[in-house]
Amino acid sequence: METIAHHPVVACLQAEIRAIGPGRDLPALGRALRRAALDQAWVTPRHREIDAEQGFGSHLVFEEGNHDLALFVVSWAPGRGAPPHDHGTWGVVCGMTGFETNTTWTRRPGGGIERGGDYVVGPGDLVTVGPEDIHSVTNLTDRPATSLHLYGRHLDHVARNRFDPAAGTVSPFIVRIR
Ligand SMILES: [Fe+2]
Repeated sequence: METIAHHPVVACLQAEIRAIGPGRDLPALGRALRRAALDQAWVTPRHREIDAEQGFGSHLVFEEGNHDLALFVVSWAPGRGAPPHDHGTWGVVCGMTGFETNTTWTRRPGGGIERGGDYVVGPGDLVTVGPEDIHSVTNLTDRPATSLHLYGRHLDHVARNRFDPAAGTVSPFIVRIR
């Protein structure tokens, strides 16, 4: 399914992303995302809805007909987040409203993962991830946070893993997308 981008800001962003090309220049993709992330005239109440059970809402804005170049708004509930996970594709994230804390993790040679540093993402701040990179996201504030996520491929069409640091286990990371 190719989602039709109605708002001019969104249509412009999709054209820019197509012109830059898939994953070729993540900083350029980030600059394009930042403009749309800070100009929020196109954002609707639907984009801010949170799946209470999941702790965040993931909303598709557009994707290509073959599921490449998929853009989402993710809304994080206060005090909630996503467990350590990888992405199966490249990604660029830009903060829109509020603050979310990204924590990096690295794979231990013998198995399991080890916690790295934290990076607080606020409006206009960028994060890039490669297919194998592992991070967790937590909204440590008392207000919702939203961010704009561009991935090389729609997350329903890549194999992603979630990691349990305490148990040392890996399982499929499946997110409900609205
Ligand atoms: Fe992620």
